Amino acid sequence: MSTAAAPADRWVFHQGAFVRAGDVALGAGTQALHYGTGVFEGIRAYADTEGRDSLVFKAREHYERLHASCRLLRLDLPHTPDELVEITTELIRRNDLRGDAYIRPLVYKLSLEPGTPFGVRLRGVSTSVSILALPMGDYTRAEGIRCGISSWRRVPDTSLPARAKITGAYANNALAVDEATAAGYDDAIMLNQQGSVAEASTANVFVVRDGQVATPGADADILLGLTRTAVMRILAEEAGITVAERAVPRSELYTADEVFLTGTGCQIVPVVEIDGRPIGAGIPGPLTRQIREVYQQAVRGALPRYRDWNTPVGLASAAKPAAAAHA
Ligand SMILES: Cc1ncc(COP(=O)(O)O)c(C=O)c1O
Repeated sequence: MSTAAAPADRWVFHQGAFVRAGDVALGAGTQALHYGTGVFEGIRAYADTEGRDSLVFKAREHYERLHASCRLLRLDLPHTPDELVEITTELIRRNDLRGDAYIRPLVYKLSLEPGTPFGVRLRGVSTSVSILALPMGDYTRAEGIRCGISSWRRVPDTSLPARAKITGAYANNALAVDEATAAGYDDAIMLNQQGSVAEASTANVFVVRDGQVATPGADADILLGLTRTAVMRILAEEAGITVAERAVPRSELYTADEVFLTGTGCQIVPVVEIDGRPIGAGIPGPLTRQIREVYQQAVRGALPRYRDWNTPVGLASAAKPAAAAHA
């Protein structure tokens, strides 16, 4: 069970220091609030199978992607990926997050530097970094979800690159989710400007047919998900399947044997219905179930061959804050 503090008492990393969430104040002039000029990551940490420590999944890769997103928006991130991993494990220890947790790093344009005129711009604006960590269990629906194809197209790379996790770009995803949930679906699958499948609101899409697996490629206006890469490795190592990265037409979804989504939040979730049509038999397929099982073990450190994905937090050796206070 988590011993997490109330939200305002939680530790956050903010502008170079660990402070209580309730003590963080951002001004109404915060540039990223006005123009969506921030970038972020979503990272999961899992209680290990022995219940002794917590393991951050693909920590370094998330921070390398964060750095890439920062370069696009000219955000000056003052910490290296390794430093950010260390800050993250320290944050989890401080919050004593012993169960599954979610980490949200955010790098954003803060305020105009002296002499910079008011307006939309990337240069002459300071950068701020905040990292939050909160308890978050597995909300994946093993029985699968129902999706609708969105009438909102995924923003093209020529307008707002989906390969970077830019805060402002998520208004596109929010429109798609809003439309899908209003229609009674669990999530939206967005097409790109070419009419091919791009991705779900916060997850990549995989399609299985006759033992072959395909997923939209890097040129399909998608975020290159870290779970996507992990799943490609699992499919290669466990099932000898090489995933084809290629354009996936909408019709291929309707006629697939299995469709599943991958993402940090949803992890691996079967899609059992799209636009009212059952996928395969309308229940999670065997390949989806197999990789879900492997993934769930791997993220908790149970499979030595995937240990390079796990960064131990060091909770076992960390003193609990309450105990320390009375020592
Ligand atoms: C738009 C979008 N696509 C895909 C993903 C999946 O990426 P990852 O597996 O790195 O979490 C996410 C979540 O981060 C996302 O927001």
